[in-house]
Amino acid sequence: MTTRILGTGSALPKTTWTNDDLSAFIDTSDEWIRTRTGIIRRQIAAREESAASLGAEAGRKAIENSGTALEEIEMILAATCSDEGYFPSAACRIQAELGVRGAVCMDINAACSGFLFALHTAHAYVQSGIYQKILVIGTETMSRVIDWKDRSTCVLFGDGAGACVVGKDEKGILGFSQYSDGSRGSVLTGTAATLATPGDGAHPAGALFMDGQAVFRFAVKTVPECIQDTLEKTGKNIHEIDLFVLHQANSRIIHSVAKRLGAPEEKFPINLNEHGNTSAASIPILLDELNREGRLERGSLIMLAGFGAGLTWGTALLEW
Ligand code: COA
Repeated sequence: MTTRILGTGSALPKTTWTNDDLSAFIDTSDEWIRTRTGIIRRQIAAREESAASLGAEAGRKAIENSGTALEEIEMILAATCSDEGYFPSAACRIQAELGVRGAVCMDINAACSGFLFALHTAHAYVQSGIYQKILVIGTETMSRVIDWKDRSTCVLFGDGAGACVVGKDEKGILGFSQYSDGSRGSVLTGTAATLATPGDGAHPAGALFMDGQAVFRFAVKTVPECIQDTLEKTGKNIHEIDLFVLHQANSRIIHSVAKRLGAPEEKFPINLNEHGNTSAASIPILLDELNREGRLERGSLIMLAGFGAGLTWGTALLEW
């Protein structure tokens, strides 16, 4: 027995900003953003929207899609690195909004790898028999942690949430690989406003800093290696994989990973053109879109791959 994704859901803010909308207030262009990243538009949370409200909407849809009753959800794990405060956790606020009174709730922060790390955590709880049904959510309001004056990062991100319900089944997760390397963490940081002293030479308070080229090199090297790890652990080969659902950061990263693996690009679905990089939400949003489009056939093999700040990275092979 393993752990299966029983249903999926996603939620996006109502407001969409195109590349041209951004070029109205920062020195950039649609052409630069499209050619360097593949991004065309992204959704940006309005005042009344939050990581919790988006996460709750995605979670509600995942619960409905899975055919699970609210009372059956025993745990809520919310992967997020851009919530509006330190506590209460996004997971607890999502619980309150959904009215899932019996669930145990906590957040997981592994930045853009967060959904994969949360999925693995849920798998461990399900396999140990502690909990039967778990709601796993990736939810982000990246627009609230980026530096809107830094054109090299603010054009990359978007807001949104994706979710799934997992439970025990004969088919599902076949294998996992997860890694962290804190010694390389300085290439991608988000500093809390209260922790930076003005004028101390550190990156701006409350803002995201990224060495884009270092992160690019890290991603195109580690993601193919990590996919190979999981293939070896599960005794599968690259040609058996039907779809590669990668973290949606940059289409050039995705094309480069496909090329390094010798796998056809058509097996690498992309939606970052529509949503930008939604960090921990990107993999579950894409999974939900594929699921609702009927592109995830029962029994097909799906490789998930995430990478991001920490540094953190990981892959999971699912038999759908
Ligand atoms: N619009 C226009 N010009 C921009 C710009 C923008 N939004 N952002 C940067 N530039 C300029 C730079 O100032 C630089 O100008 P210069 O040559 O006059 O100094 C030029 O474009 C090239 O900048 P560079 O940083 O070398 O670009 P790049 O080709 O490395 O692309 C990224 C930048 C961020 C798109 C790329 O490094 C990347 O995608 N990295 C990975 C980031 C990522 O995915 N992070 C999330 C991981 S979870």
